[in-house]
Amino acid sequence: AQDMGRDLADVLIGEDDIRARLGEIAAQVDADYAGRDLLLVGVLKGAVMVMADFARALHGPAEMDWMAVSSYGSGTKSSGVVRILKDLDRDVTGRHVLIVEDIIDSGLTLSWLVANLRSRGAASVEVMALLRKPDAAKVTVDVKYVGFDIPNAFVVGYGLDFAERYRNLRVVGTLAEHVYSS
Ligand code: PRP
Ligand code: MN
Ligand code: MG
Repeated sequence: AQDMGRDLADVLIGEDDIRARLGEIAAQVDADYAGRDLLLVGVLKGAVMVMADFARALHGPAEMDWMAVSSYGSGTKSSGVVRILKDLDRDVTGRHVLIVEDIIDSGLTLSWLVANLRSRGAASVEVMALLRKPDAAKVTVDVKYVGFDIPNAFVVGYGLDFAERYRNLRVVGTLAEHVYSS
């Protein structure tokens, strides 16, 4: 089989950096949520990898639930239209919710999701995102925990896809030119 790594132009964040940063954030979340029941809400599919590793880096108990949303009605990544494809399995009323995301790009997905979960009566709603692109923000999202701020380039790996591929790369990187042109 071909090696996915050959399709990368650059590795932006390696495995060790991801693990170390998730460990730091987990320690902070353990402290911040001490004595409170934490509900992690992962956003399918990009957040699968970060959820798996972040949840296991926590020492305190955390439930996990998942949502799938289609961020963009049709075509371009800017409509701000968000549709729920798969809702949470359980009610979040009174719960302390921490949304777990792989990346904040325009911010449209998360700003909608935060408002949506708050409107359901969660006791608190915060965000943990592994990656953030400050230069791509269309709306400001109040994010409590961020792994890395990255340049406004198309990145794949560790959950992030290009046409559904590269999610299972262990690193975050940019794609080589030949991937787009073939
Ligand atoms: C990607 C990414 C975030 C969102 C960020 O998901 O995983 O969820 O886009 O973009 P935004 O800040 O501009 O809203 P995508 O819709 O590609 O679905 P996926 O997670 O299944 O890849
Ligand atoms: Mn996503
Ligand atoms: Mg995607």
